[in-house]
Amino acid sequence: TTKIAVLVSGRGSNLQSVIDNIESGYIRDAEIKVVISDVGDAYALERARKHGIPAVFTDPLSFENKPAFELEILKTLKEHNIDLILLAGYMRIVGKEIISAYPNRIINIHPALLPAFKGLHAQQQAFKYGVKVSGCTVHFVDEGMDTGPIIIQKCVPVLEDDTADTLAARILEQEHKIFPEAVKLFAEGKLKVEGRIVVHT
Ligand code: GAR
Repeated sequence: TTKIAVLVSGRGSNLQSVIDNIESGYIRDAEIKVVISDVGDAYALERARKHGIPAVFTDPLSFENKPAFELEILKTLKEHNIDLILLAGYMRIVGKEIISAYPNRIINIHPALLPAFKGLHAQQQAFKYGVKVSGCTVHFVDEGMDTGPIIIQKCVPVLEDDTADTLAARILEQEHKIFPEAVKLFAEGKLKVEGRIVVHT
């Protein structure tokens, strides 16, 4: 069984999609052992508790620096024997303390077609740039920001009467499909990383 930790900062709809797809049996042989938030009142924590999943708030402000904060998270990960870390709307850059402990075992969902529109508010960046298609990307996390090997991408059109919000909603719908799909493939041992290329075996 793949033991999963989910790192979150907010609403947690992508966390919910993984929970639902484990409960439905679409993702097999995987279990969410803990949800960790860097924001105390993140609704994602509530979602975890509703499903009986341990929900932990780790307050970045109570640590001297980023390595100390990450060591605390690592401690929680070790306590739960975690195999796979999911970043589901986690709004911090994961540092080398965590990355080096989990090489190619951290997966992020990003609301744009990488390598375009990295960083925060990617849907709004894409909308303002005037692209005619955007989408979302699930990728392994490396030491760069939104630069790791791509697992799945899905595109959506930008329509004439879109706002950044309606575009974001269209992208989110696809996030909720490809994020669980990537988790399923990982849990089945079907993802092989060859340099930048992720092969689906
Ligand atoms: C999602 O759109 C996710 O792709 C994005 O934040 C949202 C979180 O929503 N992540 C990033 O922008 C990462 N830089 P959720 O909390 O409902 O899953």
